Amino acid sequence: MAAAPPRPYYDHEPVYRELRERGGEGWDDRAGAPPSDDSYQGLDELIAGPWLRGRGALAVLDVGTGGGQAALRLAPLARRLVGVDYSPSAIALARNNAADAGVAAEFRVADAASLVELDAGSFDLVLDNHMLHCLVEPEHRAAFLRSARRLLRPAGLLFSETMSRHGELDLTALGIDPQTFVSASGRRFWTSRESLNEELAQAGFTLLEQRYRPQTDRPAAGDLLWTLAQRS
Ligand SMILES: C[S@@+](CC[C@H](N)C(=O)[O-])C[C@H]1O[C@@H](n2cnc3c(N)ncnc32)[C@H](O)[C@@H]1O
Repeated sequence: MAAAPPRPYYDHEPVYRELRERGGEGWDDRAGAPPSDDSYQGLDELIAGPWLRGRGALAVLDVGTGGGQAALRLAPLARRLVGVDYSPSAIALARNNAADAGVAAEFRVADAASLVELDAGSFDLVLDNHMLHCLVEPEHRAAFLRSARRLLRPAGLLFSETMSRHGELDLTALGIDPQTFVSASGRRFWTSRESLNEELAQAGFTLLEQRYRPQTDRPAAGDLLWTLAQRS
């Protein structure tokens, strides 16, 4: 039997191109986005909490950085800020946003599933702010998590906030397959806590804290799964 063709991933590039032409700055400025700043609330909770204290100035890698909004929030705590995204227009936006904010940050085009250009053990914190649910194929999620572990120094931290199937989730309205929890477009994946934790353990992470965060701006879209894990 012939192998199934790979699912087409959501092509973010045209979305960033279009929002950039309209003067937008990041993913939340795309056409049809809910009018909210909910996207960074979980990350702000990480920054305000106890987990990053006592670790000195941080080397931070933001994967799927978009316009760099998550990365730039870490600037006051960072000695090095790197953001990667597979969309060149997102990286152009991130560079402009960093320049406007007067923040020295490095933004590069790279695929989350193959972060080979970056040095092993060179980061204290890796961020996934709503990127992992774009990696529909289990092997791509595993490759990203293995890369994150390789890039972190011992006891370095991985922050992830990703869409989950927990909470109120309207499968029909969102076109989600109830068996695979992949959208009909094949572009988004709603994980479960068990599945993500299995993937984290396989990649060599120990869970430090985890909770669900309802999406106040998107009713019936499932809760976000907020996770902080440490390189084992
Ligand atoms: C929902 S947006 C979030 C953007 C940003 N993290 C934020 O919080 O504003 C998802 C981002 O992940 C990026 N992305 C999706 N798949 C990717 C991949 N395989 N490698 C790198 N970036 C990816 C998209 O281009 C997009 O910028």
